[in-house]
Amino acid sequence: MPGAIHAEGLVKTFGDVTALDGVDLDVPEGTVLGLLGPNGAGKTTTVRVLTTLLRPDSGTATVAGVDVLEHPDEVRRSIGLSGQFAAVDEYLTGRENLQMVGRLYQMRARAAKERAGELLERFHLADAADRPARTYSGGMRRRLDLAAALVVAPPVMFMDEPTTGLDPRNRQALWDVIKELVSGGTTLLLTTQYLEEADHLAHDIAVVDHGKVIARGTSDQLKARTGGERVEVVVHDREAVAPARAVLARYGPGGRGPDDVSVEEHTRKLTVPVTGGAKLLAEVIRDLDAVGVEIDDIGLRRPTLDDVFISLTGHAAARAQEDGNGGGLQRKEPAA
Ligand SMILES: Nc1ncnc2c1ncn2[C@@H]1O[C@H](COP(=O)(O)OP(=O)(O)OP(=O)(O)O)[C@@H](O)[C@H]1O
Ligand SMILES: [Mg+2]
Repeated sequence: MPGAIHAEGLVKTFGDVTALDGVDLDVPEGTVLGLLGPNGAGKTTTVRVLTTLLRPDSGTATVAGVDVLEHPDEVRRSIGLSGQFAAVDEYLTGRENLQMVGRLYQMRARAAKERAGELLERFHLADAADRPARTYSGGMRRRLDLAAALVVAPPVMFMDEPTTGLDPRNRQALWDVIKELVSGGTTLLLTTQYLEEADHLAHDIAVVDHGKVIARGTSDQLKARTGGERVEVVVHDREAVAPARAVLARYGPGGRGPDDVSVEEHTRKLTVPVTGGAKLLAEVIRDLDAVGVEIDDIGLRRPTLDDVFISLTGHAAARAQEDGNGGGLQRKEPAA
């Protein structure tokens, strides 16, 4: 039985840009799929097709069992989309905006009022609730938009990078509301560049790159594919990077020799996938010491989804600028 969201072979080109290159997806009812990928991967285009805002060149999709291309109006009735359908009326207050959405969805006045009050509270907008939305800051407007999308719980919900631009406190608030929504039976497709977010919220993750789903599974399954743990070493000076790399290569999977070891020159950090756990660390320290490499830090860590992405695509991905939002994926420009 196809899931609440089902897509097969979605293709969409814009001029000579292939935004979607055969996307297949299946999201079982009541679950969260995290669509994870770097800038330009095709996440928003996928959401636009599934929410009837854009026709694909080819491929098929159903949402809540209804064909997106044949019955877009019917699809629109059973979905919610964060940010875009939730048009904020500038001249209404935050509270009035949320109550109006409730009324549009046929909630009783009292229930709409209660839900509005609850969401204003949760997104830390209570103090500004009775001011017109046009006086809101960018972040406040963003939160009001999200709250508006959450007034009613549609059977299927799409959120395109919902936490971009939210501070940590409001991101947590959104995560909590999302979890409640899903435990109430809503199916959610969420796009994100943030590994931490996909890890936290999604039952299943589909990694997209260049308009294709290149891997899918649970966060743990994806991490397991990259081969367990890693040893991470920060050497004391730049000259030590090369000898340290030679030592660490002995502990790697062996397939690519020194290339098994990834190096971040500016932080003097070397990373190698290993099997063997904590007692291996003592051996590594001894071996590095034997060749005179001085280290500032060493540790064992589980792979992150960054590691997953690198190992799947082969092309380097880099941690996004520290933005208080956890690690993000960004495609690095290929070396000239
Ligand atoms: N309307 C459009 N006209 C031309 N090109 C487009 C259009 N929409 C998307 N694209 C291109 O399609 C590709 C995929 O874009 P998309 O917006 O789906 O990526 P994304 O994964 O959402 O990226 P981001 O993380 O930056 O939001 C990009 O190369 C983009 O430039
Ligand atoms: Mg996008």
